[in-house]
Parts: sequence; structure tokens; C-alpha cells
Amino acid sequence: MVEISTSILTMEKGEETKTIFALEAAKTDYFHIDVMDGKFVEKNTYKKMMENSSYIKRISNLPLDVHLMVEDVKTAVDDFLAVEPNIITFHYEACKDSSEVLDIIKYIKENNCKVGLAIKPNTNLEDIYEFLPYIHMCLVMTVEPGKGGQKLIKATVNKVRDLKKYINDNNIEIDIEVDGGINLVTANIVKEAGANILVSGTAILMAKDYKVIIDELKK
Ligand code: DX5
Ligand code: ZN
Repeated sequence: MVEISTSILTMEKGEETKTIFALEAAKTDYFHIDVMDGKFVEKNTYKKMMENSSYIKRISNLPLDVHLMVEDVKTAVDDFLAVEPNIITFHYEACKDSSEVLDIIKYIKENNCKVGLAIKPNTNLEDIYEFLPYIHMCLVMTVEPGKGGQKLIKATVNKVRDLKKYINDNNIEIDIEVDGGINLVTANIVKEAGANILVSGTAILMAKDYKVIIDELKK
């Protein structure tokens, strides 16, 4: 059984309360918070995601799965720790070297928060092997980070398969989360490859009945 983390990036303005309660009733496992700074990626959702996260914390007990697509990771970690997320995931590509990656991993854990490391489609899996023993989740981007509604990049599925094999061969217990272009068709492909947490935004938010699609994605 996989878990579903619904991205609220494309949540309709003014529909927040209705959407959040409906997603909760539909049993999403997490709310996926896409934090973009307008530098690491073109869009800037920083303020909107801070507001949405604080609002969700007030009206729901479901855990927040924060995805930082920012250059200044440390500042964003400090800002989003304030909404007590279940996990904070940052990008390997935002760090200048391995010691910075390790420092941020340590810092997030010292603040009693789980930590994820995200990699873009063109980043090699080998680049992050050294960090896997210290994190809770690896986020394999199945689209270029920056916006919702994109098509899954097929080549990233092999990365999920290779990662699953690597963690099994090395007895590393981490979650594999995939993010971008996940719908009823691509979900089966990435699940078969070894992903156990699926992020989905457009496919869920455009559905008439969130529960039907979330149940299907979980199967
Ligand atoms: C893209 C974000 C994804 C995206 C997922 O940069 O990290 O979480 O919002 O949205 P869909 O499911 O529409 O691809
Ligand atoms: Zn995301």
C-alpha cells in the first residue's frame, strides 16, 4: 500500500477551506507543500505556501510534507519549521558541496523534523548514495521542478528502480517519494519501480471525487 501526498500548488484561490477538508475526508496521507523561491525555480510560491501551511495547521491534523525548491535552504528550513511539518525535503542541487548537504540534514533532524533529499531528473543517483543512511526519504523528481501539470519524464522511472535496488542491497530503510506527473496511469509504473509515496497535484485536484482517485492511486 503506498501513501499519497497531495500537492496543493494548484489549489484554487478562495477554495482553500473546502479543498483541504475534502482532501482530508478523501484520506490523503499528507499535504505536499511546494515552496519555490523564484531563484532555484522560476516561480515564487514562498509566501503563499507559508500562508497555506499555517492555515492547514490550524484546521487539519494531517502531516505536512514540505518540498523546498529554494537556493537558501537554511533560511527556508527555519521558516517552515515554524509550521511543524512531518518532513522537510531540500534539493541536493541547491547545496555547494557534500558537507553542506550533511549540515542541513543534521540541522533538520536536530529540530525534531524528518528529512528528505530531492534530486532533479538530470542528477545521477550515485551523487546522493553517501547521504542515504542519514535521511528518511529520497524524493525522485519525475518532472523538472517548478510547476504542476507536467508530463512524467519516463527516464526517471529507471532511477526509482535503481534506487529501490540500491537501498535493498544495502539494507537502507528509507521512503522513496516520486513527484510530478503522477496520475492513474503513471502511478502503476512508479509503484512497480519501487516508489512508496506518490505526490500528485493536478490529477487529484482536477478530479470530481478526490476519494475515488486517491483510493485508486493507493492500490
Ligand atoms: C513541481 C512540484 C510538484 C508538482 C506536482 O515542481 O514539486 O509537487 O506540484 O504536481 P503535478 O501532480 O500536477 O505534476
Ligand atoms: Zn513537489
